Amino acid sequence: MDCYQEIYERSLRDPEGFWGEAAQALEWHKPWEQVLDRTAKPVPRWFVGGEFNTCHNALDRHVAAGRGDQDALIWDSPVSGSKRRYTYTQLRDEVARFAGVLRGLGVEKGDRVLIYMPMVPEAAIAMLASARLGAIHSVVFGGFAARELATRIEDAEPKVIVSASCGIEPNRIVEYKPLLDEAIASVSHKPEHCVILQRPQQPASMIDGRDIDWAQAMATAEPADCVPVAATDPLYILYTSGTTGQPKGVVRDNGGHAVAMLWSMHNIYDVRAGDVFWAASDVGWVVGHSYIVYAPLLAGCTTVMYEGKPVGTPDPGAFWRVISEYGVKVLFTAPTAFRAIKKEDPEGEYLAQYDLSCMHTLFLAGERCDPDTLGWAQEKLGKPVIDHWWQTETGWAIAANPLGIEVLPVKPGSPSVPMPGYDVRILDEQGEELPAGEMGNIVIRLPLPPSCLPTLWRNDQRFIESYLARYPGCYLTGDAGYRDEDGYLWIMSRTDDVINVAGHRLSTGAMEEVLASHPDVAECAVIGVADALKGQLPLGLVVLKAGAQKAGEALCTELVALVRERIGPVAAFKQVAVVARLPKTRSGKILRGTMAKIADGVEWRMPATIDDPAILDEITEALRSLGYAGSSE
Ligand code: COA
Ligand code: AMP
Repeated sequence: MDCYQEIYERSLRDPEGFWGEAAQALEWHKPWEQVLDRTAKPVPRWFVGGEFNTCHNALDRHVAAGRGDQDALIWDSPVSGSKRRYTYTQLRDEVARFAGVLRGLGVEKGDRVLIYMPMVPEAAIAMLASARLGAIHSVVFGGFAARELATRIEDAEPKVIVSASCGIEPNRIVEYKPLLDEAIASVSHKPEHCVILQRPQQPASMIDGRDIDWAQAMATAEPADCVPVAATDPLYILYTSGTTGQPKGVVRDNGGHAVAMLWSMHNIYDVRAGDVFWAASDVGWVVGHSYIVYAPLLAGCTTVMYEGKPVGTPDPGAFWRVISEYGVKVLFTAPTAFRAIKKEDPEGEYLAQYDLSCMHTLFLAGERCDPDTLGWAQEKLGKPVIDHWWQTETGWAIAANPLGIEVLPVKPGSPSVPMPGYDVRILDEQGEELPAGEMGNIVIRLPLPPSCLPTLWRNDQRFIESYLARYPGCYLTGDAGYRDEDGYLWIMSRTDDVINVAGHRLSTGAMEEVLASHPDVAECAVIGVADALKGQLPLGLVVLKAGAQKAGEALCTELVALVRERIGPVAAFKQVAVVARLPKTRSGKILRGTMAKIADGVEWRMPATIDDPAILDEITEALRSLGYAGSSE
């Protein structure tokens, strides 16, 4: 009988055999010459010489196999009061037609298509249409501000941008079009055209000659066929937060990505064609790319796309309503969503109103899952709750409990064991492997398995510096943690300036850049502090310039508004304190980690290299005034 350990060991011993077999489940326009080219730079590449089309495998392949009448995508939008279903045939036809629209606008293989859309089916249609043409899409999350959008336009240089007139948050309409216009006005690379989906809640004004109405363009477009591309050609670029304000353009290839997606659906999530799979995330994040759009469709499942929140749209029973209405077998979301539900419905009274017998498993990822939340979900649902760990860079789980292979015991707080292809090691600062139980830097020995990033968009150098240079031959995950005696991984914290707010990955460095741009700020630090709902929240500490014009509350309000305006509401930056000095090492490095520990009221040690220990008392006071560091508030 297959067991996890045997399969895992084989994947490391014989990656070519393992992934070569997995790839047979897909249709290739031309078979690969090499499963793995170990000589490729900067990292080994998968399915070299193969030709492939991701959209063909996600849609046309299933229609041809007789799955045309099955639902491919169900859209449920409590914020707009709408629901819509697409069968595989209907989705294929819509996608082919929108691919025709893009082709009519000059989009060819290798061109970039930027997608800035809320959670509407047209976002998935635009992604798949781009894939159909062999173009490269780059989806930007709707909660980012115009400046973040502009940075991504400048880097990806899209020929066409696809957007919508508005998004809908429970408390407001988010007008996308003015943000888009502002972003385009500020960049040197101008897209040739923008295709705009007009939503009735807030139609947008159009710019003659540049902007095209989605519905009008679709009415006259000719459907376009799939264009085979090299398996190693990029399918998409997804920008993610790094240590600076310049996000990293994570590149995903076509062939390896599809192989890993399909493998994961069967072996991790234990779903098959015809099952209903729901990732309650957003297409702007990697979870949305992998598990709202590509993996469920590659596997012939029905995917649910939900434009709403876990609470407030209209109540904490929203998730249970969707699961029972559509027969969802697997729900995948972030622990934050469950913390939000637990807060409003601690006894599970809403949950008890729905028949959830269709549901087999809950998968959680995106942030560390606290054992309390896991325990609550297990108890209320009475179903397995599986934490799994991954990153934008990998596109699928590095560690999980592979339910489709073997159900391993769950250890709350651990995302279980490494998945095939991931040779995970825990290293000390010198690169020596650490024994079980000892915390260190988590790395993955090369080659990385299929779907993991081969580079950053047009920036091999940054890719090498960010991920490969620290420990030669290994990929640096940026997470710290340990492996226990049973081989389970424990992911404890980031080792860089990335924080995780409501499952959203954000850069404190980017927020510091915004604060530092204020004329009254001499220097600043942004740290992540523990939050019972969102996991972490950013908190700013600023030192004023001599002769600063503003101070106190007025300045803090202005700084909060500045971060919202430049990065976006999703940053959830709402707390800032003015301090006289920041604690530093003798070499001038700001002691952010120590401040974060003080804020969280956890044990901390006086750094041996600290320049002036007295500053920490001042910082503790400032943090207390904001309700942290053991404050009684
Ligand atoms: N477009 C525009 N604005 C958006 C947005 C979008 N797509 N998504 C979020 N925002 C805004 C919110 O309206 C909020 O604005 P506000 O400051 O005016 O209230 C702000 O960004 C912060 O959003 P968020 O952190 O999501 O907080 P919230 O209070 O709106 O909701 C939760 C809290 C827990 C319900 C919500 O975070 C959630 O559902 N999380 C699930 C986790 C998830 O999907 N993670 C993705 C990775 S798996
Ligand atoms: P993102 O790239 O947005 O998916 O964020 C990836 C980061 O989120 C990881 O590097 C971790 O720091 C964190 N993360 C994701 N899933 C988990 C998990 N299950 N447990 C702990 N941390 C996680």
